[in-house]
Amino acid sequence: MKVFPSEVRELQEEVSLLKKEKNAVILAHYYQEPAIKQVADFIGDSLELAKKAAGTDAGMIVFAGVHFMAETAKIINPKKKVLLPDPQAGCSLADGCEPKRFKRFIDQHPDHVVVTYINCSAEIKTMSDLVCTSSNAERIIHSIPRDKKIIFAPDKNLGDYLIKKTGREMLLWDGSCMVHEAFSIDKLLNLHKEYPSARIIAHPESESHILRAASYVGSTSGLINHIAETDWNTFIVATEAGILYDMQKHFPDKTIIPAPAKENNSCACSECAYMKMNTLEKLYNCLKNETPEVELEMEIIEKAALPIKRMLELSK
Ligand code: 13P
Ligand code: SF4
Repeated sequence: MKVFPSEVRELQEEVSLLKKEKNAVILAHYYQEPAIKQVADFIGDSLELAKKAAGTDAGMIVFAGVHFMAETAKIINPKKKVLLPDPQAGCSLADGCEPKRFKRFIDQHPDHVVVTYINCSAEIKTMSDLVCTSSNAERIIHSIPRDKKIIFAPDKNLGDYLIKKTGREMLLWDGSCMVHEAFSIDKLLNLHKEYPSARIIAHPESESHILRAASYVGSTSGLINHIAETDWNTFIVATEAGILYDMQKHFPDKTIIPAPAKENNSCACSECAYMKMNTLEKLYNCLKNETPEVELEMEIIEKAALPIKRMLELSK
């Protein structure tokens, strides 16, 4: 259903009132639609959002992101109500790492430290020694003694990037992000010829040929900080298109161009259909009705909390 600008403003006002009334905090990922980010209390990358969830004194958390992010917030705050506007908001990385198959994989390699990217289910986290995000992955890998063997899951592209950056051997799970695998290297290089003074910046979930073409690789917040820290004026950005809104808002004088996707779509960029399942209306309804709520068994929460807490400890 199409929502008109005046209705957007009315809904945003309602959301702000409900938020105060219910002592709720809205945490939003950069890939969410602008109307949601405009009412969020905090916008950030996966690590910053996990840290905010750990530090909040609000009684209720509304997570405008995908399921594994809301689950992580619930694991950190087992006594709080954690709401997710659309419970179907999944992730191709989390979906591609099924617990029974993963258990078989780690059982076949018993002498390995298991590091999982935060983009996985709570059940996968219960089988992990350490969790990481794209912004702290290098630091987490470096914290593991050099004589230890490592399994890294579920993102093979981030894993491959980390092998190159840290020089550590790692056994990789065969998973990927459908949004970051959608970029076309040929189209990207052609676009760069059109804008030769542009700097290509990319998220490490992208394939290795895209990362090789990039001058900077980092998490979503890392990409924004990089634009702030450099004198360059034009950037070609290889990550989900939702972040362009934040980049343009923070740096109105810079030219920000989305990296082109292989398939032609309306924006010629790459969008995460899961992230976009959340809408302002769903956010309003979920705050009003206090559902859908993320629920997890206490046994899962207790086990999954250990590698997350280790990650937060190592990320101070
Ligand atoms: P970060 O925000 O941690 O860079 O993660 C990107 C992403 O794909 C989240 O699903
Ligand atoms: Fe998952 Fe990729 Fe969407 Fe992030 S952008 S939620 S990694 S599918």
